[in-house]
Amino acid sequence: MDREFVFRNEDFERIRKLIRDRVGISLTDKKRDLVYSRIARRLRALHLTEFSDYLDYLEQHEDETQDFINALTTNLTAFFRESHHFDYLAEAMQAQQAGTKRPFNIWSSACSTGEEAYSLAMTAIEAFACWDPPVRILATDVDTRVLEHAQSGIYDMERLAKLPDERVHRFFYKGRGARSGSARIRPEVQQLIRFRPFNLLMPKWPIKGRFDAIFCRNVMIYFDKATQYSILSRFHPLLSEQGLLYAGHSESFQHAADLFRSQGQTIFYPVRTNPSLRSNG
Ligand SMILES: C[S@@+](CC[C@H](N)C(=O)[O-])C[C@H]1O[C@@H](n2cnc3c(N)ncnc32)[C@H](O)[C@@H]1O
Repeated sequence: MDREFVFRNEDFERIRKLIRDRVGISLTDKKRDLVYSRIARRLRALHLTEFSDYLDYLEQHEDETQDFINALTTNLTAFFRESHHFDYLAEAMQAQQAGTKRPFNIWSSACSTGEEAYSLAMTAIEAFACWDPPVRILATDVDTRVLEHAQSGIYDMERLAKLPDERVHRFFYKGRGARSGSARIRPEVQQLIRFRPFNLLMPKWPIKGRFDAIFCRNVMIYFDKATQYSILSRFHPLLSEQGLLYAGHSESFQHAADLFRSQGQTIFYPVRTNPSLRSNG
C-alpha cells in the first residue's frame, strides 16, 4: 500500500511497547492501520516524513507524550450507555442515603468526553428530585483532550439524539444562532463533578476517600489480564462497605475472583476477608 509516511514493522513494535508501558493499552497486530492513521496526524503536525523520526522526537521531547497518548486512546462513549447501571445506581444511592449523612461518592475512572459522568449526575438529580443531591462525582481520564471536551459540557445535538426529550429540556441549554446544532449541560449538573487527568497505570494513586461506586467501563478491554488485576487490586480498598464496581458489557473478572465477584449485569462487589462486613454496611 502506498503510504504518505514511511512506517516500518519496527516502528509499530516501538509504538506498541511505548503505549503499553505508558497507559497499559495492548495493541494487537490488527491495529496496525489504525495506529498508522492516528499517529500520521502527529507527523503532519510536526512536518516529519518517517515514523522512526517521530519516535526519536517522542523520546527526546517529553511534552509530546501527551499528544502521543491522546492520539492512541479510543474514546467511544454515550449518554446513559448500558442504561441498566444507572437504574441500579439510582436505587443504591437512595438506599445508602437513607442510613447516612455523608454524600454518595462516585468515581468515573475512564470518563472520556464526559457523557458517563454527566449521566451519573443526571441520575442523582432525578433520584433525589433536587438540583443539589448529596452526591459527588470524580471523573478522570488519561486523555487530556477528551477531558477538555468533558469539562466544556458542550455536545453536538446528535450526541443527545437518544436521550428522551424530557432529559434534554431539563438538563441542557440548546445553542442558538451560530451555536445551534450544539447544547450545553446546565451548571447545576456540572457542579456535581470534578474532572481531573488520571492514568490508571500510575504507580501512586493520589486518590483519597472511599467510593460507593466506581465506574470503570470499556477500558479494561484494552489492558492485558495482569494489568487488569493490578488495577482491580487498587480499586478494592477504595470501595466503601457497600461500594460496587461497574464494568463494561464485555468485561469479566474471573481471573480476579479473589478480589471481585459478579452480582450480575456487569456489576461487581469486592470480596472481603470478613464476609459479614457487607451486611453491616
Ligand atoms: C472507550 S472509552 C470508555 C468511556 C466510558 N467509560 C464508557 O464506557 O462509555 C475508554 C477511555 O479509557 C481511557 N483510558 C485508556 N487508558 C487509560 C488509562 N491508563 N487511564 C485512564 N484512562 C484510560 C481512554 O482515554 C478513553 O477515554
